[in-house]
Amino acid sequence: MDGLSRRKMVIAGGALGVFGALGVASPARARSLWTWEPSGSVAGKGAGLDPDWVWDEEVDQLVGSVIDRGDVPRVNELLRTWTRNDQPLPDGLPADLREFMEKARQLPSWADRDKLETAAKFNESRGLYLNLLNGVGGGMLSTAIPREARAVYYSKGGADMEDRVAKTSLLGFAVGDLNAYRPDGKVVVEAVKTRLVHAAVRHLLPKSPGWSRTSGGQKIPISQADMLVTWHSLPTYAMRKLLDWKVPMKSAESAGYLHVWQVTAHMLGIRDEYIPASWDAANAQSKQVLDPVLARTREGVELTDILLGQLAEQTSPGGIDRPLVNALARYLVGDQVADWDGIPREPFWEKAIETAWPKLVAFREKLIPLPLVPPLAWTIDEAARQYILFYLTKGRGTRIEIPETNRPG
Ligand code: HEM
Repeated sequence: MDGLSRRKMVIAGGALGVFGALGVASPARARSLWTWEPSGSVAGKGAGLDPDWVWDEEVDQLVGSVIDRGDVPRVNELLRTWTRNDQPLPDGLPADLREFMEKARQLPSWADRDKLETAAKFNESRGLYLNLLNGVGGGMLSTAIPREARAVYYSKGGADMEDRVAKTSLLGFAVGDLNAYRPDGKVVVEAVKTRLVHAAVRHLLPKSPGWSRTSGGQKIPISQADMLVTWHSLPTYAMRKLLDWKVPMKSAESAGYLHVWQVTAHMLGIRDEYIPASWDAANAQSKQVLDPVLARTREGVELTDILLGQLAEQTSPGGIDRPLVNALARYLVGDQVADWDGIPREPFWEKAIETAWPKLVAFREKLIPLPLVPPLAWTIDEAARQYILFYLTKGRGTRIEIPETNRPG
């Protein structure tokens, strides 16, 4: 069977399966049909299967068996000592896991060292924007992605969001680090560990009554389509905002930034045939997979409130005002997503940020002189810095570990 007709069959089968079983509309499946062509991917070709019906088979079975045979505590203890890209895997890992991880830690053949270096320098020079976009912006988008919000809410980490955000930021900061993919960097380690965590979640969440009740008929979480959705809430969204903010950028920097996230997608287990090869392909895919699924959920609203509350309380000794944090979050994701997240309106700060932020960016980019920056802009700048510092520090005391249970209760 050729790729096209197989894809049509899968689409038809998928649509029948879902609509047949449920009959009613729910946000969890308000996505459009998969028509994105594998010719736009880094692989350049592929079967064109709808990624909503593809997971990460090899590692899913393996981690399921690691959990079932009670190996998780031993494995987590060993993995704590594995922290650098160039470090050999610790002795004592179960042989099947070790074999998988040796393969999974290899960069794809298409990884380009020069592009990764350009990306590392770009990430460093634009660190403030990127950390803010990937941290607060990506976080606020993720709570408006129903499947992600619910997976996070009902999994173990959902009960301790502070720890969960700190852990997630370990990967974000590793990608943004100057050493990211260098031998002394950490992305390979954090991405492979995350791949294992996602496999564990696929094994565990189907046993959660809360998740099963709200999954909109999905039987196994974190499909390749879900991975793509979240991926777009990171680099695709961040690049769009950088362009909106008129941050000057060389084409090599933009290409490098895409590349570091393409490689990271691969390391997280996204198949090459789904990883967009260009920004145009990424934007087209994002329109197809991310835009239609964004929606309000009870879990997303609750998680948003916890996240913004933490940010307001803990990022500075005096505490950043919650209204400022609310307005900053709204500015980053826009009114529609902010409303779905249940972020309260803050007229004073919303106006202040709308006026001050473009000036702050222009000043940083040496496009305007200091006197044109309104003083309030520095309060906003400080809030952004404190946020980043808080999670950088917080991240030091934590590590990514394979869960054995769902959220208790
Ligand atoms: C765990 C990143 C996609 C749900 C993690 C962790 C990281 C991460 C770094 C480890 C932190 C921790 O253990 O808490 C990413 C990235 C993604 C992605 C970069 C895509 C590019 C998804 C998707 C879902 C999801 C699509 C669900 C639909 C989860 C859950 C956990 C997790 C439930 C474990 C929480 C726990 O039990 O503690 N992810 N993730 N992730 N992720 Fe993802």
